Amino acid sequence: MVDTLAISVTPLSSALGAEISGLDLREDLDQSTIGQITDALHEHIVVVFRDQDLSEEQQLRFTSRFGEVGTRKRSTGLHSDGRFMLVTNITVDGEPLGSYGDGEMWFHSDGAYDEVPYRFSFLYGMELPSSGGNTRFANLYRAYDALPQALKEKLAGRKVLQMGGSRRREKGDPNADLSKIPHAWHPLFTTHPATGKKSLYFSRMHSVRIEGFDLEESEAIIEELADLSERPEFIYEHVWRPGDLVVWDNRCTNHARTPFPDEENRLMRRCTVMGEKPTE
Ligand code: SIN
Repeated sequence: MVDTLAISVTPLSSALGAEISGLDLREDLDQSTIGQITDALHEHIVVVFRDQDLSEEQQLRFTSRFGEVGTRKRSTGLHSDGRFMLVTNITVDGEPLGSYGDGEMWFHSDGAYDEVPYRFSFLYGMELPSSGGNTRFANLYRAYDALPQALKEKLAGRKVLQMGGSRRREKGDPNADLSKIPHAWHPLFTTHPATGKKSLYFSRMHSVRIEGFDLEESEAIIEELADLSERPEFIYEHVWRPGDLVVWDNRCTNHARTPFPDEENRLMRRCTVMGEKPTE
């Protein structure tokens, strides 16, 4: 076990995000250091560790210090261990090696369509395209704070239908037969269990219906919330380097991916820890 280390936390943008330096994540870190990282996550929402060299086992061990490691119920790709997801466009003999293939991805929060979504995600950059494939993070506390008062009052106490499926850049159908699609109704406004702050819990990719409104009004609100939650001033865009481990708090941020050349490889390895049922 490594003794408590003085970590250095440097903000990355005025929206959210901080780089943590001074740590080698292959080490067995003590509880106080894990506590400092958790505090930084609660303050900055996204934290970046550069120049790491992590095996699967080391990534898993670090992840497990923050809670129960999440397992994927619907695993895709050739990589079969449900505790890892390879996020990649690489194929082997025509079969995808992992998930999420090529191109842009809309804003979303991991596992929002499950009753108990993931708390933190840990994405490790291994092979990257020469340009693009950046991950954009949006601060949903700021989105909540920016809601016009009348809209806040109109939507207070409402639930939103969060729908999964394999869409990456396409709106979900609010009239779809949900019996075959993972989905959950969650509060649209949530309270973060650790910081006590109010957040918008909504994304362009997963949120398809607001309770208590007819379809037309629900669609109009969804458009308004999508645009508001993606305002440039709420966003930090991470330009990856191999060896980056980026950790984020799904309870108060959405993330999206910018396009990248299809013919170039992008390979990342993701773990998660389980969270709790979102509450208002
Ligand atoms: C993810 O949504 O977990 C992956 C994001 C990315 O590919 O940048």
